[in-house]
Amino acid sequence: MNLTEAQARIAFLRTELARHDELYYRQARPEIGDFEYDRLKRELADLEAAHPELAAGASPTKRVGDDRAAGFVRARHRQAMMTLDNTYAEGELREFHARLVKLLGIDDLAYTVEPKIDGLAVSLTYENGRLVRAVTRGDGEEGDDVTANVRTIRGLPGALRETGERRAEAGELGGPAPLSRTASGLSVSTEEMPLFAEETPAAPATVHGAPATAHRAASAAVPALIEIRGEVFLRLEEFQRINREQEEAGLEPYANPRNLAAGTLKLLDPAEVAKRRLEIVLYGLGACEPAEPAESQSAYLKRLALWGLPVVELAVCVRGIDAVWAAICELDRLRRGLDYGTDGAVVKLDLFAQQRLAGARGEGQSARKLSPRWACAYKFAPDRAETRVRSISIQVGRTGALTPVAELEPVLLAGTTVKRATLHNADEIARKDVRPGDFVLIEKAGEIIPVVVQVLVDKRPSGLAPYVFPNACPVCATAVTRAEAEVVWRCPNPDCPEKVRRGLAHFASKACLDIDGLGEEVVALLIERGLVKTIPDIFRLKLEDLLPLKKSGEVWAGNLIAAIAARRSADLWRVIHGLGIPQVGATSSKDLAARFRSLDAIAAAGEADLLNVGGIGERTCGLIRAWFAAPANQALLAGLLAVGLTPTAPAAAGAAAVLAGKTVVLTGTLPTLSREEATKLVEDAGGKVSGSVSKKTHYVVAGEEAGSKLEKARALGVPVLDEAGLRRLLAG
Ligand code: IVH
Repeated sequence: MNLTEAQARIAFLRTELARHDELYYRQARPEIGDFEYDRLKRELADLEAAHPELAAGASPTKRVGDDRAAGFVRARHRQAMMTLDNTYAEGELREFHARLVKLLGIDDLAYTVEPKIDGLAVSLTYENGRLVRAVTRGDGEEGDDVTANVRTIRGLPGALRETGERRAEAGELGGPAPLSRTASGLSVSTEEMPLFAEETPAAPATVHGAPATAHRAASAAVPALIEIRGEVFLRLEEFQRINREQEEAGLEPYANPRNLAAGTLKLLDPAEVAKRRLEIVLYGLGACEPAEPAESQSAYLKRLALWGLPVVELAVCVRGIDAVWAAICELDRLRRGLDYGTDGAVVKLDLFAQQRLAGARGEGQSARKLSPRWACAYKFAPDRAETRVRSISIQVGRTGALTPVAELEPVLLAGTTVKRATLHNADEIARKDVRPGDFVLIEKAGEIIPVVVQVLVDKRPSGLAPYVFPNACPVCATAVTRAEAEVVWRCPNPDCPEKVRRGLAHFASKACLDIDGLGEEVVALLIERGLVKTIPDIFRLKLEDLLPLKKSGEVWAGNLIAAIAARRSADLWRVIHGLGIPQVGATSSKDLAARFRSLDAIAAAGEADLLNVGGIGERTCGLIRAWFAAPANQALLAGLLAVGLTPTAPAAAGAAAVLAGKTVVLTGTLPTLSREEATKLVEDAGGKVSGSVSKKTHYVVAGEEAGSKLEKARALGVPVLDEAGLRRLLAG
């Protein structure tokens, strides 16, 4: 690869990875699996290393993903939350060990090997044994305050159990021993845990190169303050239950349990969170005062269990890298019996004193770059299967996006028969050189939709021609277009029958206008009979139009006409969502409705106004403005007005119920609302503003320099929102 090619590839990978970061961390709807993501990131890191002259500038290789979302108050971690570099290679794991051996001068280092839970990292703060705060990792330095949501997790005690056993100083419990091999349930009681092995070398008093006395001795007592780190996740069964409900409601299913867990933890209403059974396991230590609760990771895990906390299960403590590798292989076997996702093993130096000596990469710089030298994540390669591509078909989406799909010879993969796999886009097909007739490896890494990972070139039958991506829409034959810096080809024809069908079905779907009886099939029928072509046409339908469509269909036709009529005053956010503005989903629609309260006001909004809406970034802002500026869309809006669509703005009937009977406390300075404006909004929505926080407070809305009221809310577990969160709540 020459310099120009490397430059182009680096630019491509940076944009592509930034897009996947946004999809994964902020929108919780990834397009690719971890393995594919890690592969792209590794390719970028290798290119940047090979061409230092091209490595300058912002790059996803130089930062950790950021999960912070609009609507939550931010909270700083006392000790930065680091992240781990991933490896899929045994050799790299051995190199990790070799580096530590060299650094510490000890050959048979003790490690804990734990499953890597596929969830969302959180940090819990317990003060004097009481849970006072739960914060997501965010950018590593500060995250979203999700205390109220985390309190809904059954199995997470609000108070640490006092053990009262000073004898059980954490160090005494440690040593290479199986920590827990319970295959059912994550909550491990001390009785269940085989704490001692035949060999129990307690943590040494000194660590090579530094006396352990340089640090305070570990204490078994409940500390005054401790940050305990862990992972919030959903069990597979719960994930499937929620997805069944989603589908029954006509909504898109969630991609995988991890994304659903992340999305759930970021819901603004704890009552909604409680309906989904989130779980948590703990495995890490942040700040702790006055003294560490243990001298080693293995002892710390036991200490957590003694306090009554749910601890990562299947963890073991072993000596030397061969034993680490054996433990990882064993874990790979055991994890298949678990009903929650694990995507690897985390290997940690067991002794905290040795961890301190090893330190972290990027120290002295921003916490965003910190990754410990004492730990390593070994990721299990996802389940794969070999099959053959029968053909490549192209799906046309609502926005005209052309998505290539591999039609496969059916094959069993991770318990299900797979017949189709996504090929993402034209660039991906070209990069992997997938041809109809090829033998391929497909993979399912927790995602619902399997992915074609690789062509088995050695098995390629002779005479297979490279696949040529269509330059015209397979449905309406219009020449396809691709915007600069986009990977997706689109059909630009606003009248493309497939786009029209999907667009109308989206508008009528449960997630948008929720028009009972107007599902995909009925929409297709209405289009076929020439009765509807645009959204306003739906509202022009008359009983006599529908009667000929079904034999004895009077009742059906009457119900459909009534259902459509009932939606003329649908909530504004539903109409916005139904319009299909690129990148504007239900959440952004609610934000826009709360802020502007009419379609006209959104159409007239300037860039600064739109950017002021939480969750709307520059790209989405540009897309919204372009959508409202397009003549075809202006005609659509005029058409909606002409057929009498009068959406209900949030402050009217829809919002009145939102805060009825609820008490809200305002504290600190909000970014755009004055105290009076915020009070009016709350009161217009039926709520009451109170000056002090108590157990009876429903929400605290906190701005800059919020003080003791915020602290009290956290201590009492009252949901804390920022201004964007309040607006989202008001939008219903
Ligand atoms: S220890 C310094 N232990 O994996 C970071 N992390 O790739 C210490 N994770 O951010 C993390 N299971 O969200 C650790 N047993 C485990 C884990 C685990 C899952 C996640 C965690 C972390 C990410 C790192």
